[in-house]
Amino acid sequence: NARVRIHHLLQAKERGEKWAMLTAYDTYSAQVFEEAGIPVMLVGDSAGNVVLGHTSTVPVTVDDLLLMTKAVTRSTKRSLIVADLPFGSYESGPQQAFETSVRMMKEGGAQAVKLEGGVRVAPQIRMLTDNGVPVMAHVGFTPQSEHALGGFRVQGRGAGADQLLADAHAVQEAGAFAVVLEMVPASVAAQVTKELSIPTVGIGAGADCDAQVLVWPDMAGLNGGRVPKFVKRYADLRGELLRAAREYADEVRGGVFPGPEHSFE
Ligand code: KIV
Ligand code: NA
Repeated sequence: NARVRIHHLLQAKERGEKWAMLTAYDTYSAQVFEEAGIPVMLVGDSAGNVVLGHTSTVPVTVDDLLLMTKAVTRSTKRSLIVADLPFGSYESGPQQAFETSVRMMKEGGAQAVKLEGGVRVAPQIRMLTDNGVPVMAHVGFTPQSEHALGGFRVQGRGAGADQLLADAHAVQEAGAFAVVLEMVPASVAAQVTKELSIPTVGIGAGADCDAQVLVWPDMAGLNGGRVPKFVKRYADLRGELLRAAREYADEVRGGVFPGPEHSFE
């Protein structure tokens, strides 16, 4: 089977077929999600929180994400791999955005990049798409601006809906092939989805988006802390890993492991 292409995602929207995206940061997660038929994976800067132990995405560097992007692209051949551009790696202008994206594609092997912002980053999106870099945009709540937005808050409520619509249209106009809508009222996300010809990828944006995305350790229950309201837990990997680690330690202490079948003559 060939690699998923951005035109397949546009065709899916025209046919009214929804699809699911997950983050991936390493080889096993990427392999499993590809086997599960996840068409698009994001090497997200959520890695800051769920892989690197930071409390936000702000400290994540291009080198951090390059390492993970390489692992994910080496481990997949069908899913379309999108690399996030971390905070500080594209805001200063189109040239900076292009240079960072070239690294994600040439060194990382990504097929597309994602950046946060609407009207504000339209020049960057235009530069990238004019020069061979497919761009997924990200509007609504944008975690890299957590401090400017005053914490994790729903965006696009009330008068904010007009700004959200303007941002969504701006990224489409600039050439983005899809747009993430994060933490926006379901009704506003539905309107954006109807008005745009490119797919919307919701996270905390209701059921009417063209696609959905979740951070995989959140949806698989590996996260030990609180998860946002928009997360559904499909497994309890933390519980299962805890059980396995405890059992292993017990068996070593009790002289049960390794048994003869794990030993060499
Ligand atoms: O970094 C990330 O995981 C993301 C998704 C939540 C869209 O940006
Ligand atoms: Na991100």
